[in-house]
Amino acid sequence: MTGIRTSHPSPSAREHPAPPALAEGPGRGRMAADPFPRWLTDLEARHRSSLTFVEVRKALQALSSLYVERRSRLSAGAALESAGKRAAFALYYGPLHYLLLRRIVKALEAGQPAPTRILDLGCGTGVAGAAWALEAGGTPLLEGVDRNAWAVQEARWTLGALGLRGRIHQGFADRARVPGAGGAIVAAFALNEMEDADRERLLERMMRAARNRTRVLVVEPLARRAAPWWSEWAHTFRGIGGRENTWRFPVSLPEPLVLLDRAAGLDHRELTGRSLWLAPSPAVETEGC
Ligand SMILES: C[S@@+](CC[C@H](N)C(=O)[O-])C[C@H]1O[C@@H](n2cnc3c(N)ncnc32)[C@H](O)[C@@H]1O
Repeated sequence: MTGIRTSHPSPSAREHPAPPALAEGPGRGRMAADPFPRWLTDLEARHRSSLTFVEVRKALQALSSLYVERRSRLSAGAALESAGKRAAFALYYGPLHYLLLRRIVKALEAGQPAPTRILDLGCGTGVAGAAWALEAGGTPLLEGVDRNAWAVQEARWTLGALGLRGRIHQGFADRARVPGAGGAIVAAFALNEMEDADRERLLERMMRAARNRTRVLVVEPLARRAAPWWSEWAHTFRGIGGRENTWRFPVSLPEPLVLLDRAAGLDHRELTGRSLWLAPSPAVETEGC
């Protein structure tokens, strides 16, 4: 077994001190300028045209309470059930997840070589796959799948706004067609909202994909209560040479996120999360299919 288990907080995260979020540039590849600042400005304009700041703040508080205290409603799609919650998700959690995913992809060196295709499971507004694609130079073809129709539309907009190529489908994650060798799968903050049976099917499909030389990245919040299944997944990933990390990246958030952070009584001086990572290696290859 070649997997590396990293203790809390991750030495890898410490080895990659965080520059200010907006100073971060894309990885090696064809894209020169970081499209993040412009995307954030456009995102604000898109969602704040119909909602006031106070409405977004209240919705963000309701959404945070759902994620922390009323988790049982998540698998029924409660997080995206109202216009306010959708806007709060797009304006706040979307950019936070984007920034975190870029740091994780960079720290894991998951962008090199660039994946040919990236399948983003439970893509929401499309930020996780987009972050990986941009860190890989902007060349990968993105394929997003989400059960929520609003998320599908929003993810399509995200791809266009960030100058990425791809397709977003409405559907269930466990039925998506997985990429073959040279491709990648990401599931960020999505598995914890799925039914147990769907998640278990996905674990099997991810293991099969990894043995077929597809890179697999799972990201979830640090809070264990969000993912009681985590230890079992980590054990399975490590069993075929995968790696588990926890991450705490110091961050200086851009102004619009700081305002929402404060207004909603949240405090993000760090971007945090836990990840499971599988990259093709001799250990994975010899397992066979
Ligand atoms: C918290 S959001 C995360 C979105 C995005 N990956 C991110 O990092 O910001 C979870 C998403 O998973 C989607 N989702 C939940 N269960 C799903 C399933 N079984 N199939 C497809 N999408 C699902 C939800 O609709 C929602 O958009």
